[in-house]
Amino acid sequence: METEYKTDVLIVGTGPAGGATGALLSSYGISNMMINRYRWLANTPRAHITNQRTMEVLRDLGQSVEEEAYLHATSQELMGNNVFCESLAGEELGRMRSWGTHPESMAEHLLSSPCRMNDLPQTFMEPILFKTACSRGSETRMSTEYLSHEQDADGVTTTCRDRLSGREIRIRSKYLVGADGGNSAVAEHLGLPFEGKMGVGGSMNILFRADLSHLVAHRPSVLYWVMQPGADVGGIGMGLVRMVRPWNEWLIVWGYDINEPAPDVTPEFAQGVARQLVGDPELEIELLSANVWTVNDMFATHMQKDRVFIMGDAAHRHPPSNGLGSNTSIQDGFNLAWKLAAVLKGQAGPGLLESYSEERAPVARQIVTRANKSIGEFGPIFEALGMDGGVDPEKIQRNISARADASDAAEAQRAALRKAIELKSYEFDCHGVEMNQRYASSAVVTDGQTEPAFARDPELHYQPTTWPGARLPHVWLFARDGRKLSTLDICGHGRFTLLTGIGGEDWAEAAGQIADELGLPLDVHVIGPRRDYEDHTGDWARAREIRDNGCVLVRPDHHVAWRSETLSGDAAQDLRRVLTSILNR
Ligand code: FDA
Repeated sequence: METEYKTDVLIVGTGPAGGATGALLSSYGISNMMINRYRWLANTPRAHITNQRTMEVLRDLGQSVEEEAYLHATSQELMGNNVFCESLAGEELGRMRSWGTHPESMAEHLLSSPCRMNDLPQTFMEPILFKTACSRGSETRMSTEYLSHEQDADGVTTTCRDRLSGREIRIRSKYLVGADGGNSAVAEHLGLPFEGKMGVGGSMNILFRADLSHLVAHRPSVLYWVMQPGADVGGIGMGLVRMVRPWNEWLIVWGYDINEPAPDVTPEFAQGVARQLVGDPELEIELLSANVWTVNDMFATHMQKDRVFIMGDAAHRHPPSNGLGSNTSIQDGFNLAWKLAAVLKGQAGPGLLESYSEERAPVARQIVTRANKSIGEFGPIFEALGMDGGVDPEKIQRNISARADASDAAEAQRAALRKAIELKSYEFDCHGVEMNQRYASSAVVTDGQTEPAFARDPELHYQPTTWPGARLPHVWLFARDGRKLSTLDICGHGRFTLLTGIGGEDWAEAAGQIADELGLPLDVHVIGPRRDYEDHTGDWARAREIRDNGCVLVRPDHHVAWRSETLSGDAAQDLRRVLTSILNR
């Protein structure tokens, strides 16, 4: 017999995308239900690099959520010696300071965000998001498999299988979110357009415990790249020994030829690969799991069909290079959740929801392209070491040794290797890709202001701006009681916020009037001497790109909705125009 349940938003999947969306919707007071076909969350560490933008989402969910993430994470200081070696015990061939640990990059990180990059395996991230969601009101049904859905003018009816009883159940919701991963059935049933290809490379994960402190603790890192014959076949560009917990839990990623049958990763096979990459023929590992997976290169060019949305890996399918998988998935949730909340609360028309795909589909394209390009950018390292011409171990060894010679050729080889390693900043220190997302959509009003050009490489360097569509720049402000708060702290939390300065007080009055008119909570903060927040350092004055009496209107997801350089002739009229346009009223 069929059972019918009701909720406002049904979320298929409790991974990073689904968990974040549930946690955010519950924080905004929206009824939602998350389902997962399995009885529990991720059982392997999978994604781990957690970037500043994702930490800002967790911070927006609350101090305790952010702090719990840091508590379980390996901190940034231990992430940064990206080593290239023959094996962990063998010769080191080069190293790059990664993940914001180069002093120059660290300064950029510190200036960009109140949050710190860290390494938080998915087995820790998912429970944090899930607990936050459930404790704030999300309903959950585990062991519940999505089968199909049908939508009509008023809502969506989703059919699922309760895997404990075998019965089919129906869940009626106003909206459905497919956060069901890279093999998304929701995306398939919607027939959304995709570009790219699945299965462009073969890879295997070998998760194990072994104390390798003696080989790594002096050069702490998240990633140790191993160059051995076959290391450029399939996989993610090179053999990888990834730290899961310092320094006794590890994940090896090793490729295989996608045109051949996938190898059977038996315990003996796994131990053999581990011994080879660690470089210790006697190594004993405690094997935790082993599986094969494929490298994908595919993204949705549209992420919504009427009342149904896709997010996370359901929309962008790519290798773990650049560590963008779980980060982008959580950030998709941050983009969609406030829009769903605004529509469900009657503060916005359904047209607002179309901005989700307008804003996030370009991000999907960008990150899938970046991650796959990063695999190819290992090529120059292989070339510099003469490892691109086959797998003859003796020839490879001769080429590696040649770089230590006192000859012009060897000097050129050393220079080529340094340059090739430097190129890998586009994978391991790619701050711009993480932070520079600027949206162009119906949920942003630029009033014809032109986008500021990037002064430096936009993939490598974040460039703050209050240009509408960009994320609000972070600077530290000081409350009257001395507390230090980020500009991001005084915005967000599911609400629109207007920031102004001395002489801009009329914005506050206008905002109050428009908030009443539209039934929309709208916070206003005046920044300046003896006002709500002080800009003692002058950092806000330098970042805001408006005059003291201008304003910056910030969306609940920290992106700038609109700005005015000075106090306008009719502040209320301007705010009404902008907000009714954004909110599709
Ligand atoms: P995710 O796949 O995490 O979650 C999907 C959810 O939907 C799960 O809860 C699943 O049970 C549920 N679900 C699926 N179908 C369902 C159905 N029909 N009914 C009900 N529930 C359903 N990334 C990275 O950055 N570094 C890495 O090293 C790795 N390694 C890695 C290894 C392996 C084996 C995988 C599978 C993935 C990775 N990734 C990764 C990718 C990373 O894990 C990924 O980007 C995020 O988990 C994406 O989060 P989502 O929430 O979108 O999907």
